[in-house]
Amino acid sequence: MNTPEAKQNTKGLFIKTYGCQMNVYDSERMRDVLRPLGYAPVDTPEAADLVVLNTCHIREKATEKVYSELGQLKRMKQNTGSNMTIAVAGCVAQAEGEEIMRRQPLVDLVLGPQAYHKLPEMIARASRAVGDRLETDFETLEKFDALPKTREADGPTAFLSVQEGCDKFCTFCVVPYTRGAELSRPVDDIVMEARNLAAQGVREISLLGQNVNAFHGAAPQVEGGEDWTLGQLCRHLAKIGGIERIRYTTSHPRDMDDDLIAAHGDTAQMQPFLHLPVQSGSDRILKAMNRGHTADEYREIIRKVREAQPDVALASDFIVGFPGESDEDFEATMQLVRDVNYAIAYSFKYSPRPGTPAAEMFGHVPEDVKDARLQALQKLLREQQTAFNKSKIGQTVPVLVTGRGRLEGQAHGRSPWMQAVHFDGPAELTGKIVDVKVNGATMSSLSGELIRAREVAL
Ligand code: 5AD
Ligand code: SF4
Repeated sequence: MNTPEAKQNTKGLFIKTYGCQMNVYDSERMRDVLRPLGYAPVDTPEAADLVVLNTCHIREKATEKVYSELGQLKRMKQNTGSNMTIAVAGCVAQAEGEEIMRRQPLVDLVLGPQAYHKLPEMIARASRAVGDRLETDFETLEKFDALPKTREADGPTAFLSVQEGCDKFCTFCVVPYTRGAELSRPVDDIVMEARNLAAQGVREISLLGQNVNAFHGAAPQVEGGEDWTLGQLCRHLAKIGGIERIRYTTSHPRDMDDDLIAAHGDTAQMQPFLHLPVQSGSDRILKAMNRGHTADEYREIIRKVREAQPDVALASDFIVGFPGESDEDFEATMQLVRDVNYAIAYSFKYSPRPGTPAAEMFGHVPEDVKDARLQALQKLLREQQTAFNKSKIGQTVPVLVTGRGRLEGQAHGRSPWMQAVHFDGPAELTGKIVDVKVNGATMSSLSGELIRAREVAL
């Protein structure tokens, strides 16, 4: 992963500070958290893209000054046609948040002194509301309507993008600032692309999205035109002739609704594999990460998915050494891994990203502690991955053949659980689903013997 550095000094920031030394200090902090997002101080409100009034509530007169300042900003905005964002921070905001919004609708956001770490998130949301995006060095995704409606398939498996962007604002993550708001493609477009891929011999489609299970694309007019969930979309795509396998990635626990879980059990094409990142097993850290669920809520989702599809293979992402993570918190992550038992997982040392709230948090964990935790976690995950692969030895599994293997006369393919499989067989089987009896397993792949090529329903 590259370390994203936001473009510097692309937007003007004007903070007017009222009251005590505390507010002076807070204004400095606000400048700091906004700098990585490209905000640099300017001398006048006229030159600003963002004006923050950092207010004082100590006397009524101070409050009235804020309203009079807002009145002036309103006139200035009207006269110049400026698109500036106006934020009210500090103690008046804390005390009279709703009243301010009611009395002065031009205020875009109100935040109390406890919420400054959320300022980048709030600014990002407010910028999106006026169709703006924060400038960063990240490549922005092409808009969906710029995507070609037909594309050439490259083999029997294909990705199909259904959603982009993220509104979750996990405190460690830059995606909501860089990739923008969550957006879903209309179902018709997705179905057209899936049909086209199927006609070219694609048997397995992986639905892609930053937050794929937050999908809410508009359904076809004949189906009522309402928004559909990912579960509804999967069931619909399963009806397309030739589409034998459906996957989706990456999901968020908060969007794992019961219908999607049920689809794992009642729709034959839904593959028994779920990448559902949890990041940490400690409730304290999950809260600081703004994940919006507890470790036990995650365990309950896993229980329900396993009930619907007992052989499902589970995958996750983990971050070790998030600010404030204690030995006890890390042990809670290890315990969650033991409880869930993963088929595969990706783990990372926490790395501060400029402009994200976690980068400003206290309690950064020393590098050597992060290293030791990552090693311990990865050792456990490797053991689980190897054990999962070995559990398939002796079973006959359906393998979608994706091409020639590394050795002469070998073919390779993919199991329903995302394992790479090698076996002796002709490359002409590519695109077919064949039965392979597994007789060997390593951490990264399975090997086996071809039993028979099955008919593929077309
Ligand atoms: N530090 C470490 N890991 C991160 N990820 C995202 N942001 C950070 C960060 N600042 C990881 C998360 C996510 C995956 C794609 O990358 O685990 O799920
Ligand atoms: Fe969104 Fe995932 Fe980043 Fe959280 S980690 S903000 S869910 S992209």
